[in-house]
Amino acid sequence: MQKIVSLCKRRGFIFQSSEIYGGVEALWDYGPLGSLLKNNIKQEWLKAFVQNREDVVLIDTPIIMHPKTWEASGHLKNFADPLIECKNCHSRFREDHLIKKECPNCGKKDFTPSKQFNLMFKTFLGPVEDESHIAYLRPETAQSMFTDFNLARESMRLKIPFGIAQIGRSFRNEITTGNFIFRSREFEQAEIEYFVKPGEDEKFFEEWVDAWEKFIIGLGIKKENLRRYEHKKEALSHYSKRTIDIEYKYPFGWSELTGIANRTNYDLSQYSKFSGKELIYFDEETKTKYIPFVIEPSLGIDRLLLALLCDAYQEVKGGRTETTKSVKEIEVVLKLDKKIAPIKVAVLPLVRNKPELVKKAKEVYQLLKPHFICQYDEVGSIGRRYRRIDEIGCPFAITVDFETLEKEDVTLRDRDTMKQERVKIKDLVKVLKEKLEEK
Ligand code: GAP
Repeated sequence: MQKIVSLCKRRGFIFQSSEIYGGVEALWDYGPLGSLLKNNIKQEWLKAFVQNREDVVLIDTPIIMHPKTWEASGHLKNFADPLIECKNCHSRFREDHLIKKECPNCGKKDFTPSKQFNLMFKTFLGPVEDESHIAYLRPETAQSMFTDFNLARESMRLKIPFGIAQIGRSFRNEITTGNFIFRSREFEQAEIEYFVKPGEDEKFFEEWVDAWEKFIIGLGIKKENLRRYEHKKEALSHYSKRTIDIEYKYPFGWSELTGIANRTNYDLSQYSKFSGKELIYFDEETKTKYIPFVIEPSLGIDRLLLALLCDAYQEVKGGRTETTKSVKEIEVVLKLDKKIAPIKVAVLPLVRNKPELVKKAKEVYQLLKPHFICQYDEVGSIGRRYRRIDEIGCPFAITVDFETLEKEDVTLRDRDTMKQERVKIKDLVKVLKEKLEEK
């Protein structure tokens, strides 16, 4: 894990937030490459579940919702974890996260009785800071899909089964954090609330578990690093009839990457009760009314990004680039899928002390820039530069050399096969587009 964390910092993927002040626990900044990677993952999710489907629509709603939301959803009462405090050093822990009943800080075994700690961040809406103005930062994106159920369905003339999707920030004042971006206090979720006819929920539940897993594998995660975990009946959330987590084999062990829940008609019923507005569906064919059931696939974008980094990280024996002379030395290659790689093409003049090569390489860079996210790099030996771009998972590198000046062609290097081929500059955009779209 330490290797991933240090690569992320060194190469501009993820930094500690507010690092100049020593950082803030469980908050992370996505750097120049991390932001591009995260954005690519989100785009792929949108493509798979909104663009390529006819039955899912997207919404984008505020982080602060009407405070009544959290009464109706049950979060005010139930969204809590068991908190205990060490009587000796006063460190606080999540009780169920302590494997041995021993303080990880001072080793003592004397704790206060456990109490329920609500994970929602509190704030005030407007300038008056009193009880009646308390609001909460949402701990999940899901609830707007229920409060907007009628508005989205009516405006888009949606017929059951249909889904409402959203990607956005969620906030949880987690008691124990750690494992890098795995458990943060601010993170991003991509969720779908898929409304179905009661009785058809179990079939759709199975379909969504499969679709969700297929999407994750499609982004490049190895199947053997994923497994399913079915929640025991007694451990289900207050709204769920059935939940399956898809777990990933992180360097710190198998842990939840994503979850799919059958939320029954709990949420729509609760909102109808609390708001006085009917959130029901009228079936034109059977002329009957019912409260739809909901299947909810929910994905943490940050957890997926971490899994993708861990899965793509490879240490290979030296010799890929001329920077390692001995096979005993290790080179790092981030084998990110082309779809999500932050930089698609690197443009490198063979040497930088020949102005004509630099000029040509910059022309090639300008030619490619409108089509792909590219990086121009002239610093260091060519081997060192290949090594740097392998480390950031860039799938293609173009080298401009002396032959280029005569023949108007360049060397195109493939990160995975290490094959190099000559391509005419005039064909580069077309060739790269084809290669990036190849399965
Ligand atoms: N709407 C259902 C829901 O929020 P959840 O299991 O609490 O269910 C869904 O969260 C997903 O959100 C998790 O599977 C995980 O990927 C992500 N997630 C939850 N808490 C997180 C945290 N503190 N940091 C990063 N990701 C988190």
